Amino acid sequence: MQAIEVENLTKQFNGVTAVDHISFTVKIGELFGLLGPNGAGKTTTIRMLTGILKSTVGSAHIGEYDIQKNPLEAKQMMGIVPEMANAYIDLSAIGNLLLIGELYGIQRKERVEKAENLLKLFGLYEKRHHKVRTFSKGMKQRIIVAMGLMNDPQLLFLDEPTSGLDVESVRLIRKLIREFNDKGTTIVLTTHNIEEANQLCDRVAIMNYGKIVAIDRPEKLKRAIQSTTSVEVAFVKRVMPGEFTFEGVSEVKKVGNKLRLYTEKPGEIIPMLVKYSQSSGNKIISLNTLEPNLEDVFLKLTRRGEK
Ligand SMILES: Nc1ncnc2c1ncn2[C@@H]1O[C@H](COP(=O)(O)OP(=O)(O)O)[C@@H](O)[C@H]1O
Ligand SMILES: [Mg+2]
Repeated sequence: MQAIEVENLTKQFNGVTAVDHISFTVKIGELFGLLGPNGAGKTTTIRMLTGILKSTVGSAHIGEYDIQKNPLEAKQMMGIVPEMANAYIDLSAIGNLLLIGELYGIQRKERVEKAENLLKLFGLYEKRHHKVRTFSKGMKQRIIVAMGLMNDPQLLFLDEPTSGLDVESVRLIRKLIREFNDKGTTIVLTTHNIEEANQLCDRVAIMNYGKIVAIDRPEKLKRAIQSTTSVEVAFVKRVMPGEFTFEGVSEVKKVGNKLRLYTEKPGEIIPMLVKYSQSSGNKIISLNTLEPNLEDVFLKLTRRGEK
């Protein structure tokens, strides 16, 4: 059995298609990422998978349960950390966790134990009696993630868990996501951060305009576009990208003060750049060969306006 099995899942809002016939499976124990730009349909997908939204077409199974036909059974298996969730700011950190524990019907003693353990893990134990109102954004988000873990879910959904947080909170949350996954929790997270998907996920589905445009292990996605090896060069004097349409260069991009020349054969392009430098008297400041990265895959697949 799979942790999640999605078939043809589609959501339209007043005729606008937010999620467009997507199908994928998530294996038990997997750390699965939905990566895509704003408006790609990630949150809408999560909302359908967690039974908050009804799909227009298609189905999703959580374990053996159809989320629309057996929502209660399916929901019992999951923890949810919604996008832009809120904790109760007039309750203390521990108060929030205890409240969630009560909603799940966890016995008082166990509730306190769980809450305290999570507070320790999330670095908030010292502040457990402080009102969430006094917390920084990163601390609030740590509480919200901890709330999603109070029921020991087999399957945890995290919608942009680290978006807009301070570096320390980002690091801690990512570390804990990894640790919970190592202990066996299946995790589905959404992100628009390519590096996060690359670092964390076993497999990544890249979404754009409601569709899944690629799905694989990050390293395989990178390998699939070997042709996007590039040579990055910076000159002392300003140059125009148009001067570098050498044979073997598929594309020239300006990246800050550097030029990036996409090529399958960097070894042939570098001498041409050196020759250019000598004949024009424009010295090279730096010269690097860049292997393709997930960002290149992402940009290639999600270039806006080129549906
Ligand atoms: N409740 C809604 N009503 C109408 N349109 C919506 C609603 N929720 C999302 N959308 C639209 O669906 C698309 C996908 O949104 P969303 O799933 O939030 O994307 P993401 O999470 O990837 O940024 C966007 O164009 C958004 O405007
Ligand atoms: Mg979203």
